[in-house]
Amino acid sequence: MTEPYSIDALLDDYERYVNASMARIMRFMGVDGYEVEARGAEVRTSDGSTYLDLGGYGVFFHGHSHPKVVAAVQRQAETLALSTRLLPNRPVVELARRLAESLPGDLQYTFFCNSGAEAVEGALKLARMYTGKPGVIATQGGFHGKTLGALSATGKDMYREPFLPLLPGFRHVPYGDADAVEAAFDETVGAVIVEPIQGEGGVIVPPDDYLARLRAVCDAHGALLIVDEVQTGVGRTGTLWAIEPSGVVPDIVTSGKSLGGGIVPIGAFTARAEVFQPFDENPLIHTSTFGGNPLACAAGVAALDAIAEEGLLERGREAGAAFMAGLRSIQKEFPGALREVRGRGLLIGLEFVDEGVGGAFIAGLLKRRVVVVHSLNHPRVIRIMPPAVVTRDQIDYALESVRAAVSEAAALAG
Ligand SMILES: Cc1ncc(COP(=O)(O)O)c(C=O)c1O
Repeated sequence: MTEPYSIDALLDDYERYVNASMARIMRFMGVDGYEVEARGAEVRTSDGSTYLDLGGYGVFFHGHSHPKVVAAVQRQAETLALSTRLLPNRPVVELARRLAESLPGDLQYTFFCNSGAEAVEGALKLARMYTGKPGVIATQGGFHGKTLGALSATGKDMYREPFLPLLPGFRHVPYGDADAVEAAFDETVGAVIVEPIQGEGGVIVPPDDYLARLRAVCDAHGALLIVDEVQTGVGRTGTLWAIEPSGVVPDIVTSGKSLGGGIVPIGAFTARAEVFQPFDENPLIHTSTFGGNPLACAAGVAALDAIAEEGLLERGREAGAAFMAGLRSIQKEFPGALREVRGRGLLIGLEFVDEGVGGAFIAGLLKRRVVVVHSLNHPRVIRIMPPAVVTRDQIDYALESVRAAVSEAAALAG
């Protein structure tokens, strides 16, 4: 892969072998080069441009190529990348212990897999086994992945309809409304699954007492509370886990994305000891060939170490506050285009008046070499998810670029 390859040739091949529509969108966006290298908040492309990456779908809390994570992964790759699975290895135990120690209450046993959707699949299976009930209450606009089980919990018709019927017994209620969860209960419901802040749903922050009220409702009905921290977890919202400020101990917590330190894909779910019992009694009931592999777990351990050693939670909170202040002042200048700025920590949503204006904003930022992403379940909300290592100069450049791109998009909106 070292011979010269032009962006046009690459997009031709993308169109032929990966996905023609995606290639056309990238051409339409005026993409001039393909990614070749990335470090911190910056991505270099084949045309020599440098992009400021404030997107990444929430994977890069540590930024790209974090040196400690890279070093740990290199060491692990050279010694023991994958496991026999019959003999134990150290990284899997180490990461499981770190998760148990950092999560609240008696969340103790972790099952590892390779993606967020898989983590949700496993959590749903465990809940069904533990409670013996198939019913699940999920939320409208909630996002839990696109495999068939996870998609049953995801609350967006557009992604669900081509695959109906999905798993039976799932119902979706408005997010942030604990009364609606209570009202949706019947004797078939064994679990409630929610995000602590909806990410793909458009960065929706629920009322402060939401999780505590859900905990009480679940307890009253003998149901499990599954909190999906795939996007919010590992520092994204200013604390290691977004559930922390609520003081709530869920029965199962899913994680993924930034847990791999921006280097190796990983997914996980951690359950209270009692709830994990069915998987304990039969360890082969739910398995994954690559789940818990030493490479990914070494990345996870290094990712958690880096957060502690480099004060990344604190840095993330400071960067988030600087972004939020700057973005709110831009919103006040252009209320006709940009309706609201909201979020917590480094999970920030910009709600535009419509999808077209939001799309023009993304293109305007791309022109200025800044990458942001839309929200899958709420496309007129554009998400800004910088890494905690973003510098003051990069924040200033980002805000300057956002102001210019919103101004252009506002002119377009009329
Ligand atoms: C809250 C949440 N859960 C699950 C997923 C699915 O993760 P993955 O895309 O790694 O399967 C996502 C992905 O955006 C997510 O935000």
